[in-house]
Amino acid sequence: MTIPLDAEPVYVSIAELHAARDQIQRFLLEYRFGMQEIETKISILRDEFLNMHDYNPIEHVTSRVKSPDSLVEKVARKGIDPGFESIREHITDVAGVRVTCSFTADAYRLFDLLTRQDDITVRAVKDYIAEPKPNGYKSLHAIVEVPVFLSTGTVQVPVEVQFRTIAMDFWASLEHKIHYKYAGSVPDHLVGSLKDAADTAAALDERMERLHRELRDHRTAEPGMPV
Ligand code: GTP
Ligand code: MG
Repeated sequence: MTIPLDAEPVYVSIAELHAARDQIQRFLLEYRFGMQEIETKISILRDEFLNMHDYNPIEHVTSRVKSPDSLVEKVARKGIDPGFESIREHITDVAGVRVTCSFTADAYRLFDLLTRQDDITVRAVKDYIAEPKPNGYKSLHAIVEVPVFLSTGTVQVPVEVQFRTIAMDFWASLEHKIHYKYAGSVPDHLVGSLKDAADTAAALDERMERLHRELRDHRTAEPGMPV
């Protein structure tokens, strides 16, 4: 949005500014609670896996609520009506949780275990592992809704959950830095190199998973060994 230089100034009282800030904080708080619910679910699945199978399928979990600045930037970029209702409807990644797994099979397994839960509604799934983006990006994305129980009633909060392997995560964080540094117009040779690196990461994932399976089969053959 551009404001013309000769526009009439808009005067807002301090009380109005405080009220606007409180409203934004309250709006974002619901997303923080939704994010915490998902984090708890993932953490329970990890602990249960460790307990039942003596195996931890998760390397690490990170999460964030969009900052007000980045939310405003996205509203402007997508040309969305800047009201809370419209943001609620159109921006589904205000809360985000990223689950980094050891192997591709674990990413799918955790996705299944989370999305199958009774109180979870799946709004959308994008499987960039099965169909990577042209730049090589791989990850399994789900927009899920989780109920949050507040003193004022129950709200369904959308959370974007991304499942990926360590290799996919390593690649994505470097690609993100490069993309950011070149403000979106990455030089051709770097685009090519990144695509190559994505193929190498995918080959490593396959190799590690094969080794892991071999180890597991070997262990099952030995009675008394944890699988
Ligand atoms: P956004 O408007 O950017 O959120 O994209 P979208 O609504 O089309 O959803 P999409 O599922 O494609 O991407 C959601 C999120 O996945 C992004 O915010 C990033 O965190 C991640 N992501 C998607 N594509 C890429 C990519 O090419 N590189 C990296 N590093 N991350 C990506
Ligand atoms: Mg996003």
